[in-house]
Amino acid sequence: MRLQFSIPPVTVKLDPDEVHVWRAALDFSESRVEVLQRVLTEDERNRAGRFYFQKDRNRFIVARSTLRTILGKYLDANPEQIRFHYGQYGKPRLAEQLQKSGLLFNLSHSHNMALAAVTCHREIGVDLELIRSGLADEQIAERFFSPREVHALRALPKSMQDEAFFNCWTRKEAYIKARGEGLSVPLHMFDVSLLPDEPARLLSVRGEPNELLRWRLGELSPAAGFVGAVAVEGHDWRLRCWEWTDPAS
Ligand SMILES: CC(C)(COP(=O)(O)OP(=O)(O)OC[C@H]1O[C@@H](n2cnc3c(N)ncnc32)[C@H](O)[C@@H]1OP(=O)(O)O)[C@@H](O)C(=O)NCCC(=O)NCCS
Repeated sequence: MRLQFSIPPVTVKLDPDEVHVWRAALDFSESRVEVLQRVLTEDERNRAGRFYFQKDRNRFIVARSTLRTILGKYLDANPEQIRFHYGQYGKPRLAEQLQKSGLLFNLSHSHNMALAAVTCHREIGVDLELIRSGLADEQIAERFFSPREVHALRALPKSMQDEAFFNCWTRKEAYIKARGEGLSVPLHMFDVSLLPDEPARLLSVRGEPNELLRWRLGELSPAAGFVGAVAVEGHDWRLRCWEWTDPAS
């Protein structure tokens, strides 16, 4: 059963067997974005300044400041104090001085929504996508998915292919993001489940059979018209889904 996102208690505690996924809205007034951007570092503000469209710039700022505020809750730190370190393929993690907390996280945004996933001592990847119709028809699956996935997708009635396409996309992306190795992990070398209502599963990773023991996938229901997935190290974890409320609202 897919979990609903609920209002969290005032103090959120992350047990070692828990995975917390926070859902956050990204569209705010210019004046609120101006306030939120104050917790960003100079390099994050520079990055925000490179977006061509104001809307994308603002969503990046809101996603980063929300991520910082959420992490700050677990670390008992101010959002602006948090420092990130970036892996070879760009995956952010806490900088060394904060790593003893064991906190690991990943972020995804799509359209006007973001998901921030947080764990303790477990690598994690999260992906969120707005379901767009038509992409499943455009040979994108044939280019990015494995033959087994393409076969499962094309065997479905056309009316079910959009959702199945994004199930597959988000599950593959969550797994890649958990590994943090970007597209150096060949997309056709592993298979995920994709049928509508089929639980999220990593089905095989060719040449790396231990990967099935290492990771478990989970499906998310972020909102109508969106799909999401997490990939988390270990099999002994449970998901809790929280709704982020901007403190000014
Ligand atoms: C960058 C990448 C992580 C995906 O990004 P995306 O799906 O466009 O965007 P998302 O919103 O889901 O994730 C972006 C966030 O992931 C995090 N991230 C960046 N690089 C990452 C990496 N190598 N591993 C994990 N997380 C990463 C960052 O927090 C980033 O947020 P930011 O842009 O605000 O800094 C990478 O996997 C990629 O480029 N994928 C290409 C897409 C593709 O071909 N997918 C095929 C799927 S079948």
